[in-house]
Amino acid sequence: MSNQNTVNTILRLDASMRKNGSYSRDLSDRLIDQLTRKNRANVIKRDLSDGIPFIDENWINANFTALDDRTDEQSEYLKTSDMLVEELKQADQIVIGLPVYNFGVPAAFKAWIDQVVRSKLTFKYSDTGPIGLLKDKPTYIVIASGGTQLGSELDFISDYLRHVLGFIGIKDITIIDSSGLGKDEAATLAEAHNLIDSL
Ligand SMILES: Cc1cc2nc3c(=O)[nH]c(=O)nc-3n(C[C@H](O)[C@H](O)[C@H](O)COP(=O)(O)O)c2cc1C
Repeated sequence: MSNQNTVNTILRLDASMRKNGSYSRDLSDRLIDQLTRKNRANVIKRDLSDGIPFIDENWINANFTALDDRTDEQSEYLKTSDMLVEELKQADQIVIGLPVYNFGVPAAFKAWIDQVVRSKLTFKYSDTGPIGLLKDKPTYIVIASGGTQLGSELDFISDYLRHVLGFIGIKDITIIDSSGLGKDEAATLAEAHNLIDSL
């Protein structure tokens, strides 16, 4: 059977608050074009600039209540989280477009992380330590920044991303480095394009 007939599911997360003129979105477009050159794909779009609720006390209490003991109200508190975790489970590949904001990840992306890192659902503790419960899948993170260079001493996000996604089982991570756009936009984009086109 030809690979042309394979239909993958790609989960696309956009964390830039800019819907227009966003480098991470433009590069994610290019990346998805590249990933779908050989295999068709359904793309689930999760645009974090549309808003992601923060977890709160009700959420935490509901999550710490065993599934069978949850009230209908508690199940309701976890509905957004359930949906976001389901999107992760459905995906064969993940594409994340992520700007650096104030030396960290955008607040909406952190809110998304808090919604999907769920005890007993996406990770659990064992005698030998934590175990990620999601199936590993190729995950591409396009990181755009103005001046904060990935790999520099001010890069606080690459290790964080690898750790927190690995914690829930997603370890096959490729970072598309488009940091330093404010210093040399042309060179940064050329390098990012080369990497994307080589995938
Ligand atoms: C609120 C805000 C905070 C930012 N903080 C940083 C930063 O700490 N370091 C940096 O290099 N660039 C910073 N930038 C620049 C963005 O990372 C850069 O413009 C990037 O291209 C944004 O991604 P986008 O083009 O996909 O919107 C910041 C931009 C904004 C809007």
